[in-house]
Amino acid sequence: MTPDAKILSALRAHPAGVPGAQLAEVLGISRAAIWSRIEELRRLDYDIQAGPHSGYRLVRSPDVLHADDLVARLGRTRVVGRDIQVFEQTASTNDVVEKLARDGVREGAVVFAESQSKGRGRLGRRWISPARKGLWFSVLLRPQLRPPEATQLTIVSATALRRAIQAVTGLKPDIKWPNDILIGGKKVAGILTELSAEVDRIRHILLGIGVDVNLDAAELPAELRQTATSLKQEGGQMVCRAELAVAILRALDEDYARLNAGRFPAVADEWEAHCVTIGKNVTVLMGDRTVRGRAESLDDDGSLLVRTEHGRLERIIGGDVTLEK
Ligand code: BTN
Repeated sequence: MTPDAKILSALRAHPAGVPGAQLAEVLGISRAAIWSRIEELRRLDYDIQAGPHSGYRLVRSPDVLHADDLVARLGRTRVVGRDIQVFEQTASTNDVVEKLARDGVREGAVVFAESQSKGRGRLGRRWISPARKGLWFSVLLRPQLRPPEATQLTIVSATALRRAIQAVTGLKPDIKWPNDILIGGKKVAGILTELSAEVDRIRHILLGIGVDVNLDAAELPAELRQTATSLKQEGGQMVCRAELAVAILRALDEDYARLNAGRFPAVADEWEAHCVTIGKNVTVLMGDRTVRGRAESLDDDGSLLVRTEHGRLERIIGGDVTLEK
């Protein structure tokens, strides 16, 4: 952890305040150095008050994503979030993480951007990523899976994302196969899983996650207002993005550990319990092919099993699913 991360971590652990001398001792630097770091944090809009008895006290954190702050809030994880970077703007965080992957960076690295100029969604769609309104980030993973098993990771991420959103906001999100997060039938978050693989081995996976956090309806393109929403619109109040970001990384870390420990079936059960696709009549578009039928269940590898109108069972591993009323 950097000194700033350690200071923020200590201030959060002691809401009533920490004496400068104690911070200096814990960090192993002088009180003057602590004072200069606190000044720098204040310049970043952290409201840190200093009292003669209480010492330094964190009163308010700004609505910005700050790597040191995310590290301090997250604490130690097994894999996800071992390294966190925040960009003010980038084309797409998936591209940044792809480069890290090619440079041999170890799994667990996470890149956030406050805004993206070329955010992309599944099936070549554009992903609107306005500054400081959402969470736009990508995670580098190197799972021990074969390429056909990659859908498991999609299921793992949707399960973690749903649970974290519920824990932080109290809202009750649903999952639409494979990994859209809906609230009240409208999409609030999505995951773009990009894969680099050899025939029998995944080299790396980029999990690109977009969450519409504090967008107002007017900030969504008109054509999306019927089908998309934000956590702020649904819950009626602003959501702290840093708190949500950390909750998502922690949940992802937990569920990735469950996957690696051979406990994918437990994750799949949780996924199915919150999935609005199972039991519904669906239309699935896969390139120029259309499958219509009833979504019966999830297969062991995370693919969707659809019973067609002709009674055949189809395994769906990708595509655009529409739920019929
Ligand atoms: C979808 O539902 O279509 C997936 C949306 C994924 C959006 C995220 S935002 C961060 C990352 N970078 C991108 O360009 N896309 C993903």
